[in-house]
Amino acid sequence: MTYVIAQPCVDIKDRACVDECPVDCIYEGKRMLYIHPDECVDCGACEPVCPVEAIFYEDDTPPEWKDYYDANVNFFDDLGSPGGAAKLGVIDKDHPMIDALPPQNQE
Ligand code: F3S
Ligand code: F3S
Repeated sequence: MTYVIAQPCVDIKDRACVDECPVDCIYEGKRMLYIHPDECVDCGACEPVCPVEAIFYEDDTPPEWKDYYDANVNFFDDLGSPGGAAKLGVIDKDHPMIDALPPQNQE
């Protein structure tokens, strides 16, 4: 099991979650952040600190955002398990599903 970041993060990237994660498994893409499904230890520390409530336990992800499970998992297809997000910095890509979204949360 893992935690999942969903649509509310897109184009917001508050990054409060990153500071809470004890294993540094929340990776930054161009438009959102992604939780590594194998590196996440399910501690849950990230979930309550996200100001836009973008983070969910895998089984609790709202139905309309179920695809974000695959987006988080597949983001790492070509990255493997880097073992820490800090050393990678901002990764110059997003999952194709995120690439396809219009600008989000622009009030
Ligand atoms: Fe995104 Fe929320 Fe983290 S907006 S970067 S999931 S604190
Ligand atoms: Fe880190 Fe959140 Fe998992 S704090 S270990 S990504 S539940």
